Amino acid sequence: MTDEEINDEIMTLIFAGTDTTVTATCFTLLMLAKNQDIQEKVYEEINTVFSGDKNESAEVSELAKLKFLDQCIKESLRKLSIVPLVERRVTNDVVLSDGRVVPTGSNLILSIYAVHNNPQYYPDPQVWNPYNFDEDKVAQRPNHAFIPFATGLRQCIGNKFAMISMKVFISKILQNFKLTTDQTEFQFDYYLIVRCRNGYHIKFEERSKEKKTDT
Ligand code: HEM
Repeated sequence: MTDEEINDEIMTLIFAGTDTTVTATCFTLLMLAKNQDIQEKVYEEINTVFSGDKNESAEVSELAKLKFLDQCIKESLRKLSIVPLVERRVTNDVVLSDGRVVPTGSNLILSIYAVHNNPQYYPDPQVWNPYNFDEDKVAQRPNHAFIPFATGLRQCIGNKFAMISMKVFISKILQNFKLTTDQTEFQFDYYLIVRCRNGYHIKFEERSKEKKTDT
């Protein structure tokens, strides 16, 4: 590999791995701040899975048990569709189900956003609703109704790492802080990836202090 190629690969990893994860994490925290009942449910789950020490690092086996948090993150990935479009070059003729042919050499733009906002699979697609990822609901949908990391040979190589890092970050924040927000406007700009236009206005209240005030 030339120096330029190594540089390009590193830039891809940094670009593909940071903004995407940061946006999904911040949006999930904002939605949890907005939906107190759901935040409490996640908080209870975290307390059952982790032992009391709030600074202890999380084990991968523990993260796997955070099923409702997993649903919340997946719902953010669905609702935002962080990478809204992917492009593909057709290398062999593709025959569609209605008989039409997409010829070799065509460039396709595939909308992940359209898949994630299809009311056939998500009845109220504009609403952030982690219950969309209840086991029975997932079982009723085709696998490819949820493709935040794309699919096939060129799908995201960082998907597992992204899920783990988001779970660690969000669970540790929630273990220590109660989140609230007054934000009512959620505006996003759609470029190569989605960017939040008006920021994430989240108030962090220490859980330990909250308990002391209660007693
Ligand atoms: C929420 C987080 C993430 C989302 C939603 C996401 C989404 C995607 C999508 C949709 C693609 C396919 C792009 C295309 O086909 O044009 C992709 C590719 C890629 N992602 Fe991610 N990604 C995330 C996190 C990460 C992380 C954490 C890393 C690395 C540590 C990473 C590394 C990459 C790389 C290197 C590619 C290019 C793969 C290739 O061209 O073969 N991504 N990502």
